[in-house]
Amino acid sequence: RRKVVIDTDPGLDDAVAILFALACGRFDVLGLTTVAGNIGLDRVTANAGRLLALMQRDDVPVIAGSAGPLVRKGIDEAAIHGDDGLGGVRLPEPLANPLEDATGWLAERLAAEERGTVDVLALGPLTNLAHLVGLYPQVAARIGRVIVMGGAIAEKGNVGPRSEFNFASDPEAVDNVLRSGLDLTIVPLDVTRKVRASRAYAADLAGSDVAARAAADLITAYFKNDAGRESRPLHDPCVMLLAVAPQLFRIRTMSLSVDLGNEADAGALIVGGDDAVPVKVAVGIEAEWALALLAEGLR
Ligand code: BDR
Ligand code: CA
Repeated sequence: RRKVVIDTDPGLDDAVAILFALACGRFDVLGLTTVAGNIGLDRVTANAGRLLALMQRDDVPVIAGSAGPLVRKGIDEAAIHGDDGLGGVRLPEPLANPLEDATGWLAERLAAEERGTVDVLALGPLTNLAHLVGLYPQVAARIGRVIVMGGAIAEKGNVGPRSEFNFASDPEAVDNVLRSGLDLTIVPLDVTRKVRASRAYAADLAGSDVAARAAADLITAYFKNDAGRESRPLHDPCVMLLAVAPQLFRIRTMSLSVDLGNEADAGALIVGGDDAVPVKVAVGIEAEWALALLAEGLR
């Protein structure tokens, strides 16, 4: 089992990713750190607590993190994830109050664990990680690897023409994390848009155990605001899948920087560019196998 901290803004697809991580038996989840993103900080933090309550995991703490991006105003995603961030899916109330100060908690936790043994799975804007590398660079260097859902390479964006939500939410945070020297792997829209759940996929999960049933409800809710679609992309679960089954992905090292301007493409990844840094990027995926593995882990 690999020790991980999940940094997240649940979020429907975050929620499916967290359920997978808790159910699949491949991770030792040390904590869920939260960040404002899909919806405000209080909501995403409560949602993280509700998912743990559902899974009866009162041993896993939720630690509230950044309430907004480093310098900009956040983007509102209620249209996709619903006013509660979970598309109206009912979950039990959190078992405990969340802790405060995700950055401080991460720093303490990383200092206490053997160097290189804790990975960070980042499913939201990178604000918390940016604070960590800014305030505690030596402790941040103790992280094993960081796997991030964000950005778009050849694929079009979902915020601006080329910008993706997590990175567009806090471009300066992306810049800081890119330059931090951390062992970083990015899973962009190019890959995550290929991992698509249909209604039939959700229906198939619905007959199973608690994590899979909740995932089925969350995926079904994902269709609510977009009833015409045949399938919905499971962005964040791809991070978990990369951690457990790297053989399903094609990874390339690319030189990347981030658009720090003020136009529609703020936060977009730029390939090359003067101050680009080498980063591992998932550029391909065996999508059918990935979906099968996700379902298996959720069950
Ligand atoms: C990312 O943005 C959020 O809406 C999803 O949870 C995912 O992390 C996709 O662009
Ligand atoms: Ca997310």
